[in-house]
Amino acid sequence: MRKDVKHLISLQDYSIDEITEIVKLGKMIYDSPEDYSEKCKGKILASLFYEPSTRTKFSFESAMLRLGGNIIGFSDANTSSVSKGESVADTIRVMSYYADIAVMRHPKEGAPKLASLYSSIPIINAGDGGHLHPTQTLTDLLTIYNYKGTLKNHTIALCGDLKYGRTVHSLIKTMARFSTKRFILISPEELILPDSVKRFLKDNYDVELTEVRYIEEVIDEIDILYMTRIQKERFFNEEDYLKLRDSYILTKDKIRPAKQDMIIMHPLPRVNEIAYEVDDDPRAVYFDQAQFGMYVRMSLISKLLGGE
Ligand code: NCD
Repeated sequence: MRKDVKHLISLQDYSIDEITEIVKLGKMIYDSPEDYSEKCKGKILASLFYEPSTRTKFSFESAMLRLGGNIIGFSDANTSSVSKGESVADTIRVMSYYADIAVMRHPKEGAPKLASLYSSIPIINAGDGGHLHPTQTLTDLLTIYNYKGTLKNHTIALCGDLKYGRTVHSLIKTMARFSTKRFILISPEELILPDSVKRFLKDNYDVELTEVRYIEEVIDEIDILYMTRIQKERFFNEEDYLKLRDSYILTKDKIRPAKQDMIIMHPLPRVNEIAYEVDDDPRAVYFDQAQFGMYVRMSLISKLLGGE
């Protein structure tokens, strides 16, 4: 274990200045990617996905390749020695010899943190259970910065699965630090934001929290609407999931009263919560958001590898 290695397990471990720097570098890379095409030449990223992923995995891999680096890894832990019972600690000790940086997604909360204790290379948390997803938050911040010009003073509405959605937990905790004016929490009773997160907000920040059941009640007050999928894989039984699956379906009709400069975000994958007809609305930015994810990960990787 090396103490001087910088990891990204939670954005709470990063200062506001450090987060802002990563976001701003992400924007610079987005504006002129060719200037960074050799930034990580000769370096290797290990991509360790113990849970399914499309955007996060491929945007990390694409990010490393676009920085001139290389990738190794697995997307199905059953094809690695994990299937023989190897622990995360042992896997990462060995990967530390083969790679220069590692990104890990794991169904167990805290697994990337544990890995970081045994690693001599930077570990990036790419989602641990229902806990945190810091690089999705960096993605969200770059998207907000790009469309709104600032990360401060927005009214943000989060809609859907606020209980299990790790993207929600990470985003709220970080945006509160950027002087968010007000969070509007839209969810069914069964999927409200956990008390621990609410308490964290109330104890540490001067922010207004409004909880409602329906989008229509608040649509005209929102600057940023963050839609989320009901997290099927975190439910204990199928019946409960089916009951809540279609709680929200955003349609053209529903966003008619919204501000002209509101933006609609979604970490993706979308299931039912945004109708396809909304995709053409200029306020729908969720596919651009996925693109920003790659640029902000290029920024993060180059920073952690000691580049920019
Ligand atoms: C999110 C996740 O994995 O938490 N996806 C992603 O990384 N873009 C959101 C989700 O799966 O609903």
